[in-house]
Order: sequence, then structure tokens, then C-alpha cells
Amino acid sequence: MCGIVGYVGRSEAAPILLDGLRRLEYRGYDSAGVAIVNGETIETRKCAGRIANLAKLMTERPPAGQYGISHTRWATHGKVTDENAHPHFDHSGKIALVHNGVIENYAALREQLVREVGHKFTSDTDTEVLAHLIGSIYEQLDGKDSKARLVNATRAALKQVIGTYGIALVHAHIKDFLVGARRGSPLVLGVGKDENFLASDVSAIVAHTRDAVYLNDFDIVAVSRDTFEISSVGGDTGSYQISRVEFGAEDVNRGEFPHYMLKEIFEQADSVRDAMRGRLNTEECTAKLGGLNMTAAQLRDVTRIVLTGCGTALHAALVGEYLIEQLASLPVEVEYASEFRHRNTPMSGNTLVFAISQSGETADTLGALRESRRKGYRTLGICNNVASTVARESDGGVYMHAGPEIGVAATKSFTSQLVILTLIGLLLGRMRHLSTSEGSLIIEALEALPGQIESVLKLSDHIRAIAKEYVSVNGILFFGRQFNFPIALEGALKMKEITYLFAEGHPSAELKHGIIALVRPDLPSVFIAPDDAVFSKNLNNIEQVKARKGPIIALTSGDGRKQLKGIANDIIEIPRAADVVTPVLTVIPLQLLAYHMAVELGLDVDKPRNLAKSVTVE
Ligand code: AGP
Repeated sequence: MCGIVGYVGRSEAAPILLDGLRRLEYRGYDSAGVAIVNGETIETRKCAGRIANLAKLMTERPPAGQYGISHTRWATHGKVTDENAHPHFDHSGKIALVHNGVIENYAALREQLVREVGHKFTSDTDTEVLAHLIGSIYEQLDGKDSKARLVNATRAALKQVIGTYGIALVHAHIKDFLVGARRGSPLVLGVGKDENFLASDVSAIVAHTRDAVYLNDFDIVAVSRDTFEISSVGGDTGSYQISRVEFGAEDVNRGEFPHYMLKEIFEQADSVRDAMRGRLNTEECTAKLGGLNMTAAQLRDVTRIVLTGCGTALHAALVGEYLIEQLASLPVEVEYASEFRHRNTPMSGNTLVFAISQSGETADTLGALRESRRKGYRTLGICNNVASTVARESDGGVYMHAGPEIGVAATKSFTSQLVILTLIGLLLGRMRHLSTSEGSLIIEALEALPGQIESVLKLSDHIRAIAKEYVSVNGILFFGRQFNFPIALEGALKMKEITYLFAEGHPSAELKHGIIALVRPDLPSVFIAPDDAVFSKNLNNIEQVKARKGPIIALTSGDGRKQLKGIANDIIEIPRAADVVTPVLTVIPLQLLAYHMAVELGLDVDKPRNLAKSVTVE
């Protein structure tokens, strides 16, 4: 939530900062702003609304200068107004600051600044308080070295702060210099030639450099054109490593696709292939997951698994529960990450916890991960974002290698998560009761997936036609059983997120326990009913809806089409696959259905209202 970009170099800062913000718009789009230092004046442009509004302002009055900071906001404290848009200034107006995170004790700090030094505030934000605090300390500090003074003032201010921050700041009188710091919100330093960058996410700067330092919590970085220095809020000299970003600028472009979401849906044959690349051991019919950092003996000793995450990642966890229980006969529990810390979940010493997160920065998931580690459990991450906080704070894990996911609605990360959970089930299963031939069937099913996904993607036009048919409905129900019950939840989440339609997902059999009261001729039901072990049971529920004149969209495979003919109003037919991998195929038509409905409704698919991609607040 919120994206920040900083630049110091020899080029004009404005286009670099604006382009970086566009890449980070997925993190929030309530307001945007830049502060660029020109001589000894800070030129600020900021306004409520999308980055397009800011771009217009910057075209009308282009800010000049070769260093500056910028921000795209997802509002937490204070309404969406021009005044609350970042950057914010200190009392002197010489320090400008952008912030991603929440200063929890801002009210007390603000009260103190008003009482003790008579400061006046122009916004309702927590960020402005931090800017004032840094400015106030800067004025009190002595020393000729203004750069060191600014770093020390930032350090002293951050010591007083309770909460989370990824910040970047400039001082009007300190030439070619930025200060950045992080705690709980991501911040990366991009290392260029005669230029350096700060950003919430490497995608903002990868067009300029692929060398990055992923800052740690409590790092403060002093950044000039050709040098940088990392220390800690505590005052120690920090150690760092320059990493090479594994994707390039072309990977964060939409290409010929009208939306990132559609691009990412269509990337799934490749992303699923990448999730299993090098991880299948066909000889021993098992999976190779070296990143777990666990010996075979340790894995064999595991007696219970907890899967945790939020939103789409939680739905992947729910599929994982079915998968791992079936393949490895291990008890699995799925915990909402946001609730995990607030429950006294009984855990034994041999419980293994997986935190699942595309971004690896979700505050609730991080909270669950830290709680689990605090209690002494081995905690592994399943994330996409290399070097994210989840990846760094876990005892090991599995990367998705799905490439950057920019659309706010998660798509390809979900199918990658499903593949990884299948691999985990296979690995644990083959150490227990799962036979070579069963293991071999799972591997065959996994290897067939990319080709089958290509076939499912060819249904996009057919699904668009179905979307057009139902575009005026007020809501949609989704039903599935067994492995596909969580897919009903995911289908409903995609629909809610981007079409704003009321949508609910349920196990098909729950219909008769209450939901059937909702069924009526203008409320369609989507049934995920592939030709699997529970098809005939799904068919009974479909008949129950049909008998009450509810329109039915059925997603099926194999012989399902024949049996659904004359019952379902619309049929989407996917290739037949082994039951355990079916969710990878069934979810894609639901992603496409939500996408095409949203486009038909004229909505902004990649930036749904009120949402942000990476939820770094609790
Ligand atoms: C999915 O479409 C959502 N945007 C959201 O539910 C997301 O999956 C959730 O916030 C978790 O994100 P993460 O995977 O980055 O942790």
C-alpha cells in the first residue's frame, strides 16, 4: 500500500519519478505527488486521484531538477484530498518526505510538537508528523556536515516512532542527496552509474538498473549520485549485498494486452511451467525442493502442517489442505493470517508452518509468520517476490518464479501456489505411504498442465460471450466440491474485486442448508463440476438450482458436457485432468469470467476501487 520512488543523478528527475510511480500504481491510487529540488527550492506537484492527474499537472508546470522523491497513496490516515497527498513538509518547508506505512503514535507526537515548539499542520496525515519531527530535530542538531545531520535527525526521529515506514526524503539545501529508511514496509535501493534510486519495489526502477540492495528493517540509507551508505536506526554500520534483479523492464510492460490482469492470466502456461522447473524428480517420482532447508529425516518427522495467508493466497492454502492431506496423509490446518496471532492455536513441536504470499510483504501474513517463529515453529515461505520480507524472515521456502504480478487481482501467483503445494504434497507423500506409481501419475498430471492451460486460454472468447449475457445481473453464486470448493471462493473473490458485484462461493452441498433460498431467475450460479470423483454429487446440486429456475453456468470436463446438456444454460469445457491438479485449470475460466464482466461493465480492471496490491497495513 502506497508506493515511493526517489531519484538522484544527472538526468531530469521528473520523468523518472513519474514513470516509477506508474509502475507502482498497483500499490495505491488515491493521490500522487512529487517533490523535486531545483537550486534551493523544492518544486512540489501533488493532487488527489490517479497518477494521470499528477502527470497532467506536471505537463502544465514541469518541475525541473535532478533529484527528488515521489509517492502514490493508498489512504490510511486522512481523507483522499490534495492536502493529504504526499510529499509532506516539515515546519521549515525545507524537508519533503514520502512515506509508506503507518505511524501509530502520530497523535501523541503531533500533540508534543504543537505543545513544545508550536508547529502547525496542514494535513490530517501521520506522515506530516514524521516530517515535522525530523525537521525539528534537524534544527536542534549541530554540525557542519548537513548530510550527516539529516541522517542523524532521521535516525533520532525514527527512534521515537511506533509503527511501520518506508520513507524517502530530501532537503532543499542539501544538494544531490536523498535519505531513505525502512521498517515493516519495503524499500529497495537501485544502484546505477552516476545515479541511484529508492523504490518500494524494483519494478519501478528496473528500466534504469537491475542492481539492487533490498534494505532490511531499521536500515537508513544516505544516497548521493555516485555513492550510498547504509547504517541502522541504532547507529551501526549496516552490511548489504547487491543483488541482480531477475526480470527486466519488458516484464513489467503490458505488451499488446489491454490490461495487466489479462496479460497475467495468459502467462499462466509459462508461470506454471516455471513453478515446477527443476523441481520434478521423475526417476524417484517425487519433488525436489531444496529451498525448504530441511533434511529428509526432518521432513519425515513432521506431524502436522499449518498453511496461512490472506485473500487469494488463503484460497490456495485451502486447496493445499485437500492436496497435502490426500497425498501425504498429514493433518493440515488453514489459518487466516490475520487471525492466527489472535488465537491460541495448539501446535506441537513437529508442526511445520507455511506462510503463502505473492508479495511477501502482506502485514497480516508477516504477523502470522513472526508469531509462528516466536513460538519456535519452523516457518517456511511460499512467495513470488524474491528478497521480500516473508522470504527473508522464514527458515526456508519455495519461490514461485511467476515473474512480476502487477494486476491488483492475483491470477498467475495463485496457479503457481497450487503447483507448489502439489509439489509439497508429493514430496511429503513419497516419504510416507504414496507409491512410485501414484507419484508418477502426479508428475505426469503436472507436466501436462502447461499444454492444458493453453487449451483453456483459447476459451477466452467463449467466456467473453457468456460475460456479455450476464452483465446486467446483480450478483453471482459460485459452487464447487472437494478440491474445487476453494476455487468457488476464489471465483467469487475475483468477481467481487473487479466487478463490484455481490458474489459468494460455497461448497455445492451447502446449497440445501440455506443458500438455496437465494436462488431465483436473475441470480446465476457458477458450478465448478469437472468430471471427477464428486461429479454426480455436483450434478444433484445443479438439478436443485435448475428446479428453482436459477440460471446455471457449468464448468466441466470429460463426460460432464453430455450429462449437463439441457440442464446448464452455459457450459465451459476444460480438458480432463487428474483430480489433484484440476483446480489449476478450473480457476482460469473464472479469472476470465470476472475479467470480461468487468470490461463489459466499463470498470478499471487493474485498479479496482479501494484496493491495493500489496496490503502492508494490518
Ligand atoms: C487477490 O486478488 C487480492 N488482491 C488479495 O486477496 C491478495 O491475494 C492478498 O492481499 C494477499 O496478498 P499476498 O499474496 O501478496 O500476500
